[in-house]
Amino acid sequence: MSQFNTIAGWSLAGGIVALGASIVTNGMFHGERPETMGYVVEGVVEEGGEEEAEMTMAEAFTQVTVEQGEAVYRRCASCHTINEGGANGIGPNLWGKLGRDIASIPGFNYSDALSAIEGSWNFDNMSDWLARPAAFAQGTTMSFAGLSDPLDRAAVILYMNANGSNLPLPEPPAADETEAEDAEIEGEEAADPEAEADIEGGEAAEAEAAE
Ligand code: HEC
Repeated sequence: MSQFNTIAGWSLAGGIVALGASIVTNGMFHGERPETMGYVVEGVVEEGGEEEAEMTMAEAFTQVTVEQGEAVYRRCASCHTINEGGANGIGPNLWGKLGRDIASIPGFNYSDALSAIEGSWNFDNMSDWLARPAAFAQGTTMSFAGLSDPLDRAAVILYMNANGSNLPLPEPPAADETEAEDAEIEGEEAADPEAEADIEGGEAAEAEAAE
């Protein structure tokens, strides 16, 4: 396996180089980002996952169940209800939250930090929030350290989705893409969604190259 770890390590290094290159490119061409930019390591097929590897939500959803999410949700239940019309507690009621505006439950006194965040909840920003609430909304009053395991996050999000939201789940990745996506680095994803798009472009190219 060490051989594969080495290869995976090189691919990660390649991703970091590509990230740097894309930042430079963005700076020079103001957002003209050729889709094929990224790291293409000829003939490399990645195997297994590095410890640092992060998976996409689409991939994570294929590995968890609503029942697992219900179990994870017990860690939320001291502060939140999730039944339709449930009362706000220490935290707001969470029925149908996915797809709805952030910090929008009537009658709940949100922090300025969370109120200031624009947009509505989707699978990706919900995962970022639940990974580390205090990083997503600095100054949030949700005193919960976060769910560090991406599968715990995927499971509880699946459970939330089944309680009043029912957003369509993202397409599960094709098998060859799954291997390439194992090389994603959590920090990169969190730092810059645009860079993530670059990396995904690179991955797609890489997956083709690896065929
Ligand atoms: C210690 C109490 C507490 C725990 C535990 C907790 N939360 Fe919260 N949650 C809050 C509070 C308080 C807020 C409002 C935060 C703010 O306004 O900054 C909140 C806000 C939220 C929001 C945003 C709601 C909206 O209306 O936009 C979501 C989603 C959420 N929590 C999900 C969860 C999930 C899922 C868990 C378990 C994994 C969890 N919370 C655990 C207290 C908690």
